[in-house]
Amino acid sequence: MKVTFYGIGYVGLVQATVLADAGHDVCCVDIDETRINNLKKGIIPIYEPGLTPLVEKNFAEGRLTFTTDAQFGVEFGDLQFIAVGTPPDEDGSADLQYVLKVAETIATHMTTAKVIVDKSTVPVGTADKVMATVQSVLDAKSSDLTFSVVSNPEFLKEGAAVNDCKRPDRIIIGTDSAVAEEFMRELYAPFNRNHEKIIVMDIKSAELTKYAANCMLATKISFMNEMANIAERVGADIEHVRHGIGSDPRIGYQFIYPGCGYGGSCFPKDVQALVRTADNIGYESKILKAVEAVNYAQKHKLFAYISKHFDLATNPNALQGKTFAVWGLSFKPNTDDMREAPSRVLMEQLWAAGAKVQAYDPEAMEETQRIYGSRSDLSLMGTKESALNNADALIICTEWQSFRAPDFARIKEQLSEAVIFDGRNLYEPERMSSKAIQYYSIGRGL
Ligand code: UGA
Repeated sequence: MKVTFYGIGYVGLVQATVLADAGHDVCCVDIDETRINNLKKGIIPIYEPGLTPLVEKNFAEGRLTFTTDAQFGVEFGDLQFIAVGTPPDEDGSADLQYVLKVAETIATHMTTAKVIVDKSTVPVGTADKVMATVQSVLDAKSSDLTFSVVSNPEFLKEGAAVNDCKRPDRIIIGTDSAVAEEFMRELYAPFNRNHEKIIVMDIKSAELTKYAANCMLATKISFMNEMANIAERVGADIEHVRHGIGSDPRIGYQFIYPGCGYGGSCFPKDVQALVRTADNIGYESKILKAVEAVNYAQKHKLFAYISKHFDLATNPNALQGKTFAVWGLSFKPNTDDMREAPSRVLMEQLWAAGAKVQAYDPEAMEETQRIYGSRSDLSLMGTKESALNNADALIICTEWQSFRAPDFARIKEQLSEAVIFDGRNLYEPERMSSKAIQYYSIGRGL
């Protein structure tokens, strides 16, 4: 099939590439000329395991093309995928200007019937707005061309995006058109072989499914972080509690890891957007507001431990001139994405208190440099060991695999004080105390 994608960011690039790899002809359109030129040279704008060779292969074999020419894109695909960003507005609601601009572009240039697919995460009611936008442009040019709008939300996880796309656990198709449904079924046929993964529903339900999924997962995490806060106050160990409750299949082991807060481009934005959607229709989502509030507090948790340890209450200048080694900057492992990363909240608090940071991340160093530029209180170090040089304490913000079994003797040797603040519960408190390392972790006693 011939497919066009608008917006070659995370979702657009991964989904377009995986569809091309399954044999479809996919044209990728983006307004960012540098991004398009780089993609043609095999330079991928994001770090995502397995993506670069797949882009290169499908580009070389001619199934994947990159262009800034939107008119060409409109003519190319029978299916027109909108995968542009929906950044949060000032009040937290999703900003639809880019989505609607693409809808307008499609309507302006279309000369045959099209199926327009919303792939971006968009609030309930967006498909109606896309339909109205397209129709008004067609009316203005007195065109009687037909089109339909489908909601087909994406559920890929950063760091596992290629695999998630190749082996989706569900393919949600929101449509009121039998013709559009057939197009979508044919498109996804290569991914729907072993058991039925396609779930067809009305458009609004599909739009809400995406938010409900992310909000449910964010709720699980905030719930566990709240349990962790209770556990540490009553002298329980949240890791035992996690094992204990996860064994109930109704609860399950996934997404119940306590930590220093969820980040990324999806959960924080989507929880806020659904809160706004509900507010706008006169319904207050008490649960989602609490999910957000708990997460906000959790991102300040590591600094609270640090304040306690260095007794900032008695001496507000206690961190002046101190140096902290920070391991892990990305919002989760296997990505270089720093959006809403807990490490940012932590580092900004440390800097505000006059401390210096020596940071190491296996992938997010360039991105950190891009965000913070050169500043005298941030040193980006080449290895996790060099980040420890002459530091006063170690802080862990992301659970990269390479942090799981460090040389503790070396850590002790290099730090001025043997203390670790661990936002991801990577080590056993008993083992740390047997090594005479002071260990602060989440929900396991203070
Ligand atoms: C999330 C969803 O998991 C995807 O299904 C969805 O498609 C995607 O958003 C999206 O809307 O595009 P992603 O943002 O890549 O994917 O990241 P997750 O793996 O979900 O992790 C989000 C955050 O939750 C991370 O900061 C992670 O550290 C945190 N987390 C996750 C926990 O603190 N505890 C857990 O048990 C799990």
